[in-house]
Amino acid sequence: MPLSKHKIRHFNEMAHYIRNHRKVQEMKKYVQHGDVSVYDHVNDVAHTAYKIAHALKIRFDEKVLIEGALLHDFFGYDWHEDKVKRKLFDMHGYTHAKRARERAVKYFGIDRKTQHVIETHMWPLTIRSFPRTREAIIVCLADKIVSTRETVMGKLPKRKR
Ligand SMILES: [Fe+2]
Ligand SMILES: [Fe+2]
Repeated sequence: MPLSKHKIRHFNEMAHYIRNHRKVQEMKKYVQHGDVSVYDHVNDVAHTAYKIAHALKIRFDEKVLIEGALLHDFFGYDWHEDKVKRKLFDMHGYTHAKRARERAVKYFGIDRKTQHVIETHMWPLTIRSFPRTREAIIVCLADKIVSTRETVMGKLPKRKR
């Protein structure tokens, strides 16, 4: 179900500060999957999470959900590059949520609830770090949906997209 114009405008207002921050803009340089940048990925996850939360008609903290989603992959490097450090980047799946949380605290001073969204988004890969709030569960789910779509789309010939 598409979001109303009013909700899209509200979403954009809530996302404005983080999206336009210099450190978040840097995410345009890093590739997430295929030809999708990390910046586009986190925007898509935030948008998808917001849509799911509204579709479920549940109460949720908009600021926590949107900011947590926008910063969930705020790890700040290209995980496909640097062959020398391959071992570290093999562990990217396990380590980047913690790094993203630490950077989000450093640059945005986010609260505990938003930190929880970021640090648990890789569950079930990070088995002991599981989402316990509505916002964290929805962002974790939205990330799986968007990542799967990016991976599948990346494998299709361009003209079929
Ligand atoms: Fe991630
Ligand atoms: Fe992600």
